[in-house]
Amino acid sequence: MRHLLVMGNLKLNGSKHMLNDLITGLRNKLRSVVGYTVAIAPPVIYLDLVKQLLAGSHIALGAQNVDIHLSGAFTGEVSAEMLKDIGAKYIIIGHSERRIYHKESDEYIAEKFAVLKEVGLIPLLCIGESAAENKAGQTETICARQLDAVLNTLGAKAFQDAVIVYEPIWAIGTGKSASLIQVQAVHKFIRDHISRHDATVAEQITIQYGGSVNTGNAAGWFTQPDIDGVLVGGASLKVDTFSVIVKAANEVKKS
Ligand code: PGA
Repeated sequence: MRHLLVMGNLKLNGSKHMLNDLITGLRNKLRSVVGYTVAIAPPVIYLDLVKQLLAGSHIALGAQNVDIHLSGAFTGEVSAEMLKDIGAKYIIIGHSERRIYHKESDEYIAEKFAVLKEVGLIPLLCIGESAAENKAGQTETICARQLDAVLNTLGAKAFQDAVIVYEPIWAIGTGKSASLIQVQAVHKFIRDHISRHDATVAEQITIQYGGSVNTGNAAGWFTQPDIDGVLVGGASLKVDTFSVIVKAANEVKKS
C-alpha cells in the first residue's frame, strides 16, 4: 500500500529550546490528523531529544543522513543500526545538498539505500535535476540515472516500502516550487520507470515532492494521482506553517 507521508526536514536548524516548542506545538495542532503519516527529521544530535518529545504521539522520527558502514573506525559517522536504536524510521538519503556539498555519488547513495534496507529502516531517496539540466530538457534522464543506481545494484524489490522524493534542485529553498502539472508528470515518469522492472512495486511505492512547499501551495500536491506526500524544508521550522501543510494533506485525503 502507498504510504502517505508528510515529513519535515529541519536541515541544520534548531536548538533544544526551539525543538521543544516545535514538537509541543505540532503535537497540539495535529492531534486530529489520522490519514497521513507525519514525520520530523531533526539534526542528528537532537534525535534522542525529539524522540522523547514525540513519545506517545503519532508523529514519527526521521533522520537526515546515514553512513554506509554499520560500525567501525569511521570517525564522525552515524550508522543505520544507531538510527534504529534511537527510534528513527524514515531516513533521507541522496539529498541534493549532500550530493553537491559532500560530493556524494549515485553509487555511494545506493550503498546507503542498501544499508538502510539491511537494518529495516525506510530510505527516502531524493532525486532531481538542477536548473541547467531542467532547461536542457534532461529532467527524466537525470531522474532515471539516479534511480538506476539503486535499481541496477539492488533490484526493484528494494523499493518495496521505500520512498522516492522528487526534489528539483532549483525549487529547493527558492520559493519557486515546480508546477503541479510538471511535478505530476515527473512522478508518473518515476513510477513508470520502476514499473518496467516491477509493476507491483511501482504501484505501491510512495513518491513525495519536495521544493518550496509552503502554506500557499500545500493543498494542490495531494490532489495529484502520483504525488503521495511532501518533504518540507523551510516551512517545517514553524508550528503554524508545518501544521497547515499537514492539515491540507489530511483534508484532501478525507475528501
Ligand atoms: P524547502 O526544502 O522546502 O526549504 O525548499 C526542501 C528540502 O530540501 O527537502
